[in-house]
Amino acid sequence: MKVLQVSAEIFPLIKTGGLADVAAALPVALNAAGGDTRLLLPGFAPIMADLRASKVLAVLAAPWGERLVVRRGHLASLDLLAYVIDRPELYCRPGTPYEDLQHQPFADNYRRFALLGWVASRLASGLDSDWRPQVVHSHDWHAALASAYVAFLPVQNVHVASVYTVHNLAYDGLFAPRHFFELGLPPGAFSVDGLEFHGQMSFMKAGLYFSDHITTVSPSYALEIQTPEDGYGMDGLLRLRANALTGILNGVDESVWDPARDPAISDPFDAHNTEGKRRCKAWLRQELGLAVQNDAPLFGIVSRITEQKGLHLVLNVLDELLAQGGQLVMMGEGDPEMEAAFRQRALASPQAVSVHIGYNERFAHRIFAATDVTLVPSSFEPCGLTQLYGLKYGSLPLVHHVGGLADTVVDCTLEDLANETANGFVFYRFDAQGLRRAMSRAFALYARKAEWRAVRKRAMSQPLGWDKAAAQYVNLYRKLCPEPFQN
Ligand code: ADP
Ligand code: GLC
Repeated sequence: MKVLQVSAEIFPLIKTGGLADVAAALPVALNAAGGDTRLLLPGFAPIMADLRASKVLAVLAAPWGERLVVRRGHLASLDLLAYVIDRPELYCRPGTPYEDLQHQPFADNYRRFALLGWVASRLASGLDSDWRPQVVHSHDWHAALASAYVAFLPVQNVHVASVYTVHNLAYDGLFAPRHFFELGLPPGAFSVDGLEFHGQMSFMKAGLYFSDHITTVSPSYALEIQTPEDGYGMDGLLRLRANALTGILNGVDESVWDPARDPAISDPFDAHNTEGKRRCKAWLRQELGLAVQNDAPLFGIVSRITEQKGLHLVLNVLDELLAQGGQLVMMGEGDPEMEAAFRQRALASPQAVSVHIGYNERFAHRIFAATDVTLVPSSFEPCGLTQLYGLKYGSLPLVHHVGGLADTVVDCTLEDLANETANGFVFYRFDAQGLRRAMSRAFALYARKAEWRAVRKRAMSQPLGWDKAAAQYVNLYRKLCPEPFQN
């Protein structure tokens, strides 16, 4: 099955969140399942630098006239074939992939990311005479226009199916309607039955409306986004499309996240031998200047600092966490006020709270390896990867019961301890009291050493790899293109 995966981010080259982890792991898992997967990426500087043996496939004029080069090459760090849009004027800029150094979205984002969709449709219509995708699978609003462009390909190309994965409905790619006519879509596409959204142009809606099938990254989130509370105004459309909407849970890329062979951590360990984890904890506490009380549970947070992540609840319960003898190490960046509040708490209790504002992959691995509990109190969470990394590294997740967190974490209630399914701590009401009680359960279990070890062993032994998700995607692709395919 020939599948073109289209995304704006890819680990380890360009990453602002879990999208990058998924964009890197899914193609490899699909290929391991017998697929023939290639990538389409914007030519951000780290992607261009990683591209080997690249050849110019085509020189094209974008719908608004701008000249661009499409290259085909081999991404060295991922060992995958990729098409890359080589247009430094659009993609090589200081800042994040989406914002400048002042955190302002680039004014031409609609062009930068429409191009991703437009080139995907050109590949779908045979731009590369050696390889043409049967499925164009795009991720998040940045790539969503692929489904619209594919929908308007001439009829001889209609057997190219489009799949659109929503990683987070909260980021919708809204742009002023005046730009619509630059994008080369037929005028009819700008309507309620299309990408028009309250008078604006919504890339997210293009993906939801025009794709043959929509997926999202957990079964619970697939249901939640069909409700007005979590639908961001798209819930009506999503209910209409419910038969073409599936939740497929993300996995863990075990070539990157495996405590038994993780070069970032001081001592390897696994479910059967956690001595290395004890050492990782001792090492990190010493490194960070945290007091070495042997029986203190160490809580960890690795997160973007945005409203979604519910970190204000952690600030609300931090006094109790410390009063019960716990310690906290957190790394994140985002909202400046929240960053300052966490920094302040670290200054006030340097032996118990360690706060790192910034982004550091290696340090993230060390936090999961060293901590006993991973806190993920998100108000909503499409899938969430950090609770999965917590499971894998024996740092039991403590989560709000929502989205992918609800689908992956089972609370340590008496009954779920008895039936051996418990693997973490869950709170249901999104408030400080809910988090506080779940935290108390974590302390109570931590005091029962044998039970703690049993739950941790179970968490670490859970199969979390990408093979299950890959099989579900392959089934979906097969359903969408049952016909044998001629290149
Ligand atoms: P989201 O994509 O909403 O941010 P996920 O849990 O799906 O949430 O993915 C977050 C990813 O980003 C994980 O790989 C996590 O380890 C990583 N991450 C988040 N913040 C940081 C940080 N400050 N430093 C290093 N990695 C981070
Ligand atoms: C988004 C979501 C997160 C999910 C990730 C990867 O960033 O916020 O929940 O895990 O995408 O699918």
